Amino acid sequence: MDLGLKNKNAVITGASQGIGEAIAHSLADEGCNVAICARNKERLDKTVSDLQAKGVKAIGVIADLSSEAGCQLFIEEAAKKLGSIQILVNNVGGMIPGTLATMDESTWSTAINVNLMAAIYTTKHAVEHLKNNEWARILNVTGFSGTQLLPGALSTTIPNAGLIGFNKLMANELGASNITVNNICPGMINTESWGPRGEAMAKVRNTTSKELRSGFASQTMLGRWAEPSEVGDLAAFLVSQKNSYMTGTTVEICGGITRYIG
Ligand SMILES: NC(=O)c1ccc[n+]([C@@H]2O[C@H](COP(=O)([O-])OP(=O)(O)OC[C@H]3O[C@@H](n4cnc5c(N)ncnc54)[C@H](OP(=O)(O)O)[C@@H]3O)[C@@H](O)[C@H]2O)c1
Repeated sequence: MDLGLKNKNAVITGASQGIGEAIAHSLADEGCNVAICARNKERLDKTVSDLQAKGVKAIGVIADLSSEAGCQLFIEEAAKKLGSIQILVNNVGGMIPGTLATMDESTWSTAINVNLMAAIYTTKHAVEHLKNNEWARILNVTGFSGTQLLPGALSTTIPNAGLIGFNKLMANELGASNITVNNICPGMINTESWGPRGEAMAKVRNTTSKELRSGFASQTMLGRWAEPSEVGDLAAFLVSQKNSYMTGTTVEICGGITRYIG
């Protein structure tokens, strides 16, 4: 199936590794140009050159999305260098292990800014660029801690639930401009960040990271974690021209870890 992504321009936040990088690769495989950002230059440059090797235009911008200024800088640089923007993927974020007692003001600020406010600010600054097209797409990467109880996941549960509300509001506001807005909701995805995070979580739960990982795997119906590329391929469909009538939804890619009905 031709997804209609060839020569389109996509902007993906926080994409030098993990799920964002995988989404960038899945889009590049469809001939879509990409702009990505991160804070660490070395890793960003490596990912950009891997993407360019696929024959698309790929641009890397060093930006810290924990402030509105960082989000605006990324969008403006991406628009200038790509020429236009049809697709925005709000991916940046991640869980910071901690409890109500241990999470201080600075940790909360990072958690809320990077997991929720970055999506709001990048959307704010990208909307006028997106509106210059016949159709455009916004995809927010949330997580299943926003849809069902994941004990201890303070740093993501609250922003992820907020993203689900933001998604619905934006889908309603931007529908008239033929901009669809959806959430993708990953479960346990085997990204680099789970190395240190898994160690920290295991310590709090008085177990080993190996046991922690197999415990999460056994909670899924498929009995395993997913590879980032599995999320990337679903994301490519969700932001494509082919996905023309889905908006305001949250699409899970969780291997069946969620148990609610309806
Ligand atoms: N992995 C999972 O199991 C899972 C499950 C559910 C939801 N998710 C969601 O999926 C998204 C991606 O997760 P991931 O596991 O792929 O994350 P990851 O491996 O930690 O990658 C995060 C990316 O974002 C960049 N980044 C982090 N903070 C940034 C900042 N302040 N400004 C700009 N760039 C920043 C990182 O590069 P630098 O460090 O160089 O900036 C990196 O490229 C997150 O929203 C996460 O909540 C993940």
